[in-house]
Amino acid sequence: MTQLQSLLASVSVLSLLSVADAWSPTNSYAPAKVECNGKTGLTREGGKISDAETSWLAKRDPVTSAALKSFLDRVTSNFADNSIVEQIFSQGAPKAGYAACGGGYRGMLLDAGTAAAMDERTPGANEYGLGGLLQGITYITGVSGGAFYTSTVAYNNWTSVQDIISQMNDGDHSIWDLSNSPLNPGGSDTDYTNQVFADVQTAVQAKHDAGFKVSLGDAYGLICGYYMYPSLPQGGATYQWSDIQEVDAFKNGEMPMLMEVTAIVPPGEKTAGLDATTIELNPFEFGSWEPSINAFSDMKYLGTELSNGNPVNDDECVLGFDNVNFITGASTDVINYIATQGNAVYTSMISQFQTKFLGNITTESVDTNIVSPNPFKGTSYYSASQGDSLVETENLRLVDGGYGGQVIPLTPLMRQERNLDVVIATDNSYDTPEIWPNGHSIISTYTRQFHDIGKTDAFPYVPDTETFAALGLTETPTFFGCDSSNLTDLAYIPPLVVYLPNRMYSYSSNISTYTFTYTKEERLAMIQNGFEIATRNNMTDDSEFASCIGCAVMRRKQEQLGLEWPSECEQCFERYCWNGTLASDLTSISSSTNGSSTTTTTQDDASYTTELTTLTSGENFSTIHFETSTTITCHECEEAQATATAEVCGECEEGQVTTTIECEECEEAETQATVTAECEECEEAQANSHHYTTTTSMTTTTEACEECEEAKATATSTSNSNNNSNGSSNGSSNGSSNGSSSGSSNVSSNGSSNGSSNKASSSVPTILQVTTALPTSSAFSIVLNENAGNNVGVTTGLTLLAIVGAFFGFM
Ligand SMILES: *[C@@H]1O[C@H](CO)[C@@H](O)[C@H](O)[C@H]1NC(C)=O
Ligand SMILES: *[C@@H]1O[C@H](CO)[C@@H](O)[C@H](O)[C@H]1NC(C)=O
Ligand SMILES: *[C@@H]1O[C@H](CO)[C@@H](O)[C@H](O)[C@H]1NC(C)=O
Ligand SMILES: *[C@@H]1O[C@H](CO)[C@@H](O)[C@H](O)[C@H]1NC(C)=O
Ligand SMILES: *[C@@H]1O[C@H](CO)[C@@H](O)[C@H](O)[C@H]1NC(C)=O
Ligand SMILES: *[C@@H]1O[C@H](CO)[C@@H](O)[C@H](O)[C@H]1NC(C)=O
Ligand SMILES: *[C@@H]1O[C@H](CO)[C@@H](O)[C@H](O)[C@H]1NC(C)=O
Ligand SMILES: *[C@@H]1O[C@H](CO)[C@@H](O)[C@H](O)[C@H]1NC(C)=O
Ligand SMILES: *[C@@H]1O[C@H](CO)[C@@H](O)[C@H](O)[C@H]1NC(C)=O
Ligand SMILES: *[C@@H]1O[C@H](CO)[C@@H](O)[C@H](O)[C@H]1NC(C)=O
Ligand SMILES: *[C@@H]1O[C@H](CO)[C@@H](O)[C@H](O)[C@H]1NC(C)=O
Ligand SMILES: *[C@@H]1O[C@H](CO)[C@@H](O)[C@H](O)[C@H]1NC(C)=O
Repeated sequence: MTQLQSLLASVSVLSLLSVADAWSPTNSYAPAKVECNGKTGLTREGGKISDAETSWLAKRDPVTSAALKSFLDRVTSNFADNSIVEQIFSQGAPKAGYAACGGGYRGMLLDAGTAAAMDERTPGANEYGLGGLLQGITYITGVSGGAFYTSTVAYNNWTSVQDIISQMNDGDHSIWDLSNSPLNPGGSDTDYTNQVFADVQTAVQAKHDAGFKVSLGDAYGLICGYYMYPSLPQGGATYQWSDIQEVDAFKNGEMPMLMEVTAIVPPGEKTAGLDATTIELNPFEFGSWEPSINAFSDMKYLGTELSNGNPVNDDECVLGFDNVNFITGASTDVINYIATQGNAVYTSMISQFQTKFLGNITTESVDTNIVSPNPFKGTSYYSASQGDSLVETENLRLVDGGYGGQVIPLTPLMRQERNLDVVIATDNSYDTPEIWPNGHSIISTYTRQFHDIGKTDAFPYVPDTETFAALGLTETPTFFGCDSSNLTDLAYIPPLVVYLPNRMYSYSSNISTYTFTYTKEERLAMIQNGFEIATRNNMTDDSEFASCIGCAVMRRKQEQLGLEWPSECEQCFERYCWNGTLASDLTSISSSTNGSSTTTTTQDDASYTTELTTLTSGENFSTIHFETSTTITCHECEEAQATATAEVCGECEEGQVTTTIECEECEEAETQATVTAECEECEEAQANSHHYTTTTSMTTTTEACEECEEAKATATSTSNSNNNSNGSSNGSSNGSSNGSSSGSSNVSSNGSSNGSSNKASSSVPTILQVTTALPTSSAFSIVLNENAGNNVGVTTGLTLLAIVGAFFGFM
């Protein structure tokens, strides 16, 4: 039966394209050089969407318009007066996008659940969900794990999540059969694994022999393909990204346009940060809106040697370079992350991969997806402030588009040229030590618009991570940019953003990015949880949630047309819009300082006291040395027998150090736990300490747990601060409830319960050096929040060690 299904699936995907439309010209992974027949202008100036996209929109717009009309009619049917829907459509339909966040397979599965909630093809989605909204969406974007979702559905004839679920199984190589990891795709079936690896090696060799640069990125993408297109020969090794132009569902505008994002490692550097240029990968083009390139090149001819957009040799136009797995691989390539850890074990692992998949091929960059020749060579559309390095370089080295922090692929949807009204965005980032989002990703996108590289972007205001925690913005969906009148200082008025953060409903969906195997039950549970995130638990948390999404869809048009705003929408916006309130505005958090200690009481009435026993100060208030002991009063322990967690050491949200304190003794003591410390994870901390760089201008790096090996007890951090001479006064010690307590008494002190003083509100920032000497005995664990600094979703080396283990297991 399952074989029959996979045979049928195979037939249907294979027949998507007529033979004449051809797939790879060589019928292999190797690109081919063909006559250009006088073709020129393969790379164009940015600043507008392509003519091909404009033509496609003419097909798609009527479809989305009808779908959104019917969605809005349905979700506003409970309004006292829903005539606004008619009024809006009389002036042209709203436009919507869906941004599928990264996060490895965690991201992919949760994104699929959210898509299922919006898809009228999901049974129950109309009754319990946002059914029909997906049909009204013009663009879907993916990055990293989110790109696994977007590519899978788009390149399988716009299949539905429901169809994938219906065929889902373990061990039969159906779509998303994650019962075995990409490091061992056959599991106990070693013949299968050997066959896959041999085919991948042959494919990479063939591309190399055809004269193209290859890397581990090619092998990585090809292996991933077996999980997305299992019915295609060799997981899609001959399937081109641009082939979607020929697929009926796309051609006729019956499905959204997919776009993925990858980042360019700047020439001479090892990896990409927040300011690295990003590339948009769309069905027609490979290009960048950003001022360092500002150009787009024809996707189908990627690999052709061009000078200012024209082929250098008229008989050498390249086809077949844009393999679907190579392109998706560029958006999801995590090898660079492993390779740049500076860890001997990982380095050795990479070199073994290299031997296995690249044989004796030498490569200029083993850990990125290399696009060479550079299609932007010789163009001059870039802005002088950015220099010409990306148009002069021979190779573009591409890595996971979430590097640098933007784990939600928002920027292609924010473009003014696309003129969207609303964007639905998931956030499955690995920001907190427990693998939940804390707002960092969306903050990165917000922040980047004020950098030179992001100056042509606009993104609505968002608050800091403390406010995300304090207001519970990662607990429920939140709308950003609700009022255009508030956005007038930005480059243009961006769409309203509906933010859907990962949280637990029916399943603990905080699974590591480096978990590569999921059983069928686990996959279904993740998808279900994603459905619940997008629907506020099947509309049980808020029976009007679908109406509220409808209001979000209508908002920009309503503002533009000056239409009366229904009272139901007014109420929705009070519930879901972030209105500018910051954690620091919350009066329920109090803090008092009496000179030797600071006591902070948080919203849920937990409190902690920081005592300063040594204080070195003087004329120069920039250095404070003190020792702390931190007392946490677990007010809710009696009820919940709970654990309180505090994050101290400051600046966690910016990629530095998080210290978790557990009130181990609550059960015995019932009300009070005195917490002492041990640097449990110091070895990892040391190994990775060079990673802690921050995004703010006034901060230096953090050296975490320097003395732990010797002392098992010391953490040193450097954090930025205002001039807060005591390190203990206002602003420094305000705690904030993270809003997630389920009987537990969570205290998130934002880097202050050890007395360090940062994020306070006064105006003159200085560098504040804080040294905390923690008592020697017990229950403190230092957890490194590396992820916030680079955001592929990895925290400590532990998870990577698991990969190493898996790797050596199969080698
Ligand atoms: C693609 O999907 C559409 C819509 O479900 C269907 O009509 C068509 O037959 C499919 N094409 C192939 C080749 O399976
Ligand atoms: C949500 O509704 C769907 C469809 O009825 C159902 O299958 C699912 O179990 C529900 N989930 C919860 C958590 O109620
Ligand atoms: C690479 O290895 C192959 C056999 O695996 C061999 O035929 C070839 O000569 C080698 N090339 C180089 C440059 O060593
Ligand atoms: C997932 O979250 C829960 C609750 O926050 C936590 O107890 C658990 O340790 C987390 N799991 C992982 C793998 O971090
Ligand atoms: C803004 O939001 C905060 C927190 O959700 C709320 O307490 C406050 O009343 C709101 N203010 C306005 C003016 O709506
Ligand atoms: C919009 O809101 C943000 C956040 O509250 C605020 O910083 C900004 O000044 C406001 N801008 C305008 C033009 O009202
Ligand atoms: C300051 O407060 C702490 C904690 O409440 C208390 O133990 C200490 O005695 C106080 N010190 C002074 C000087 O009042
Ligand atoms: C610093 O602490 C002293 C007591 O030790 C207090 O008198 C003074 O007001 C504090 N200064 C600031 C700026 O908080
Ligand atoms: C003041 O502190 C800064 C920062 O630690 C340091 O660079 C500087 O040398 C100090 N100046 C004096 C006079 O101690
Ligand atoms: C910091 O505050 C102290 C005391 O208020 C003041 O003397 C000093 O000039 C301030 N330093 C800076 C850099 O603002
Ligand atoms: C601390 O806050 C209190 C109350 O908000 C204020 O009266 C006091 O001046 C503040 N002290 C400092 C040093 O900012
Ligand atoms: C800290 O809390 C006090 C008392 O509520 C408040 O006056 C102060 O503004 C807060 N400071 C910050 C930086 O949040």
